[in-house]
Amino acid sequence: MELRIGVIKGDGIGPEIVTEAMKVLDETARVYGHTCGYTQLLMGGASIDVHGVPLTDETVAAARSCDAVLMGSIGGDARTSPWYQLEPSKRPEAGLLRIRKELNLFANLRPAVLYDELKGACPLKKEITEGGFDMMIMRELTGGLYFGERRTVREDGVMTAYDSLTYNENEIRRIAKRGFDIAMKRRKKVTSVDKANVLDSSRLWRKVVEEVAAGYPEVALEHMLVDNCAMQLVKDPKQFDVILTENMFGDILSDEASMVTGSIGMLASASLNETKFGLYEPSGGSAPDIAGKGIANPIATILSAAMMLRFSFDLDREADAIENAVSRVLKEGYRTIDIMSEGKEQVDTKKMGDLIAGYIQ
Ligand code: IPM
Ligand code: MG
Repeated sequence: MELRIGVIKGDGIGPEIVTEAMKVLDETARVYGHTCGYTQLLMGGASIDVHGVPLTDETVAAARSCDAVLMGSIGGDARTSPWYQLEPSKRPEAGLLRIRKELNLFANLRPAVLYDELKGACPLKKEITEGGFDMMIMRELTGGLYFGERRTVREDGVMTAYDSLTYNENEIRRIAKRGFDIAMKRRKKVTSVDKANVLDSSRLWRKVVEEVAAGYPEVALEHMLVDNCAMQLVKDPKQFDVILTENMFGDILSDEASMVTGSIGMLASASLNETKFGLYEPSGGSAPDIAGKGIANPIATILSAAMMLRFSFDLDREADAIENAVSRVLKEGYRTIDIMSEGKEQVDTKKMGDLIAGYIQ
């Protein structure tokens, strides 16, 4: 099979971690008889440097013509990078928001798993994490506060800023369906997270989620207020299977969930539309403080490539091969600095990629 993959290396540690993911993809393709054709795409700061904008129409069209896009990370240090002297709509993050919207990538899947081998890195007490946890955050990605009308104006001499949180029932229904479909393949529980005690958009969210749930009698649905959910994630993360939530809540809760696994450098993500197309990226950011040092953890990007093979290409065996290679490397005690603990062997970004590629079978 010929895999047409768009590649956004991006900023910060992006180029380093994507290079290792491509290495693992190439080796997987070689072992299983596929070929990978890569189209390099510029987005974020890397695009600003060349084109003056974080995403061009040509790049959107080029991404559309690929089967899937693998991305590293975008953005820089807002205190020092010249990218942040630009108006907000021209900064690196605006490119990411635009590509999500243009490609209609409304379903963002962010798995948060506590790896047995990495329990030591988890900041929670042992009693809480005993038995591990494995949740899937389903974040709505093209609506809500991120895409509502916004403006900053002076009203009666007072500076006033507006951001509006809007959802229509169709936007809620399609992400809810995705959430329930995924729950059916997991432990059949959906926790829908909202702020229905305050927000109209959340009350509509709850109503539509309940309508969708009626079509999935095997799935247990519970509603949880977002503030309570933030607490429950550290109090009892085991209770969660699928967390279904709107854009902003999902942004916040997914960072929290990744932290409780102790290893943000391990977590993959997929952003999907109604077709097989998807954008795959690590959950972590561009980490400008360690960019270029060759010490970043490439595993989240490598696992994102595995998600890409699974969701966009239906190559389950190949995806399993990558996930097994990652498990093996961890079992054998190799660690990048972010997940290093006593008695393990510390390796750099490139060595981690080499080891994982070497274990593909
Ligand atoms: C994420 C990031 C982005 C978001 C930023 C970079 C705009 O935090 O993917 O979670 O808020 O969606
Ligand atoms: Mg975020």
